[in-house]
Amino acid sequence: MAKYAIKGKNNLSGEYEVSGAKNSALKLLAASILGDGESIINNIPDIIDIHKMEDILVGLGCKLDITDHTVKINPNSIHTRKLDSELTKKIRASIVLAGPMLAKFSEVQIAQPGGCLIGARPIDDHIDVLSQFGVKVSVSGEYFHFVGKPVAGEITLPEMSVTATENAMMAAVLSEGTTHIRVAAAEPEIADLANFLNCMGADIKGAGTHEIVIKGVDKLKGCHYSVMPDRIEAATALMIACATSSELLIGPLIAANLSLVFKKLIAAGANFSIIKKNNFDYIKTSGEQDIHGVNINTRTYPGFPTDLQSVYAALMTQAKGETRIFETIFESRFGYTEELRKMGAKINIVSPHIINIKGPTKLKPSHIDAFDIRGGGALVLAALCTPGTTVIDHVEMIERGYEHLDLKLTKIGADIQRIE
Ligand code: EPU
Repeated sequence: MAKYAIKGKNNLSGEYEVSGAKNSALKLLAASILGDGESIINNIPDIIDIHKMEDILVGLGCKLDITDHTVKINPNSIHTRKLDSELTKKIRASIVLAGPMLAKFSEVQIAQPGGCLIGARPIDDHIDVLSQFGVKVSVSGEYFHFVGKPVAGEITLPEMSVTATENAMMAAVLSEGTTHIRVAAAEPEIADLANFLNCMGADIKGAGTHEIVIKGVDKLKGCHYSVMPDRIEAATALMIACATSSELLIGPLIAANLSLVFKKLIAAGANFSIIKKNNFDYIKTSGEQDIHGVNINTRTYPGFPTDLQSVYAALMTQAKGETRIFETIFESRFGYTEELRKMGAKINIVSPHIINIKGPTKLKPSHIDAFDIRGGGALVLAALCTPGTTVIDHVEMIERGYEHLDLKLTKIGADIQRIE
């Protein structure tokens, strides 16, 4: 178990470099098994969840060559249809191997996937969608056994699940005929996956909207692609800048993917602008920030992302007045509030979905625990605006999704020691 010891209240300044998007890179790695040859994927973040996905792919028989942030992956030597159950249980994203394995091999065995403890997170939507493709599902021991070549047709998701949409898209690409996926989730990472699949030779239109149309093709080839920037990491760094009144340049990012987050932060008094550099957007924050409470509801894209709810809540402990946060996606995503309360934050849990925060609070250093990736991000933000040293345990949780957050923040002036 590793910890961060964070001495807060340092002045932060300089450039915060945003990595490739976790929730795109994981799916691109899974999708690469659909190709009949090697794919080269750049801008892969160096995070624990990616390493787990790489291990699962190696376990299937893929050949991986990993250098810096590039992964070369050749799926031609896949020799099993069964995913390693221990690894599968460690990351939720392992479920997105179901779609490509079925499209390519008409069979996959997969244990109930794990992931962050932020709610029940069942896979009933995935089973529903794959059944609509004519795939048969049975349970044997801890494994779900999916069998059958996905049949193109009319698919309607039971709810806008991100990974179920991605599974449906990947299940459809090699099916003869046209598939319409309705009630699709529209997150930008889904569009990134569709762009990758199209680069492999697929014919997908409408990804990033709620209706996706896929014309099946006979085969896909490997391709060369670069993962989009991580919008959640970019917004986390922006909220850290707001909480610590820091002058930062944050990027690269695609600003349009964060428009509601920006609108809410501007309404809260955040002081920043967007500039262009090397064909990407960057956020330039001002050292003067005067933040006050603004309510949010989390929603599927383009709503306020649930993945930023905790970090926003930590920022709101430093805001003047009251903030109400309504978490509509997950039923158990306020675990981190207990840790913030240990630091003196005034947070009232109204229901499993609603909290009220009163600010601004002068937080006090504490010994706290990271339970999930984004909750951990919230604790780092809180520690950075607390005088004295805050110790955060289980930072592997944070490192599952944020690439070297300690080093990136240290580079811009934070005082963070990582202790094994
Ligand atoms: N749900 C079901 N049944 C299912 C699938 C989902 O009931 O079969 C429920 C979930 O329990 C949740 C809601 O539907 O209440 C939304 O879940 P969704 O399927 O959209 O989430 P996901 O695909 O499992 C992805 C991201 C999450 C992110 C959510 C929402 C990946 C690997 N994960 O999860 O990212 O919070 O979408 O945007 O893409 C993170 O990065 O920290 C993270 C948790």
